[in-house]
Amino acid sequence: MTMHIPVLLDDVMGALGDLCGRRVIDATFGAGGYSRAFLNAGAIVTAFDRDPTVGTTAAAIRDEFGDRFTFIAAPFDEMTKLDDTYDAIVFDLGISSMQIDVASRGFSFRFDGPLDMRMSVAGQTAAQLIACSTPAELARILRDFGDVANAGTLARAICDAAPQTTFQLRDLIHRPRDVAPVFQALRIAVNDEMGQLTRALDAVPSHLNVGGKCIAVTFHSIEDRIVKNTFRDWTTAPGDPRMPGAMRAPFVAIRTTRPGADELGHNARARSAHMRGVIKSY
Ligand SMILES: C[S@@+](CC[C@H](N)C(=O)[O-])C[C@H]1O[C@@H](n2cnc3c(N)ncnc32)[C@H](O)[C@@H]1O
Repeated sequence: MTMHIPVLLDDVMGALGDLCGRRVIDATFGAGGYSRAFLNAGAIVTAFDRDPTVGTTAAAIRDEFGDRFTFIAAPFDEMTKLDDTYDAIVFDLGISSMQIDVASRGFSFRFDGPLDMRMSVAGQTAAQLIACSTPAELARILRDFGDVANAGTLARAICDAAPQTTFQLRDLIHRPRDVAPVFQALRIAVNDEMGQLTRALDAVPSHLNVGGKCIAVTFHSIEDRIVKNTFRDWTTAPGDPRMPGAMRAPFVAIRTTRPGADELGHNARARSAHMRGVIKSY
């Protein structure tokens, strides 16, 4: 089984500070690397993941840490339904090694498998999304979520061929530099990743305690732009004029971090990662 190495975990822990007795949402449980670190630091953790295959790992962590750990098998935009407030909400976005490195999940152009790409293993697969899309709709997906330059021509070829496997799709893409962006764009569309992120970020301010932190680790420019712009809006809003200078906006920014040479040397997934964070002022 592929091992998932958590990205930027030391930086996330450093940004969160003392977690003893703190209530933390781990929005993206994955292999549980972040949740385990939060629990080892004394936090009370509520974790989300929409991928049912992580259930066994979540159960093992529950056995180890008891009722300090709660797992919610659902997309993280369901945090809007939580009544409590928290001291930290953490997103480690994108897909895990267990998803990208398993051929049958259909996420990767490196392995031949069904053109699936569903994190939740439910709903419309990538092959079905292509079959249901017009060339114009598919071109918009390729452009918006992959910055693919010749999106119109490529979308027409993909719609005509109706690929059913990852290799069938890969072989339709003539320019090697378009392969990864096309796969990324379809994955984002199949999983409504930008809708999920936007709705969850909308829920963050009302679910954080004063002094609470929101940290997001992003892996591509499209999700990073959403996080960056949202955090910028929160930290530059006119806010409360009765508060002292730096605290006047509803949030204060935490320094943005990128993986260092050391981390890049042992974890290729860290390549494009950014960690951004904010602290709720009042
Ligand atoms: C990069 S991995 C997280 C790895 C984790 N931090 C660790 O240390 O093991 C991302 C995980 O988030 C999950 N995920 C992505 N988007 C999600 C969403 N909208 N709702 C719930 N889970 C999501 C994926 O299924 C995947 O398991």
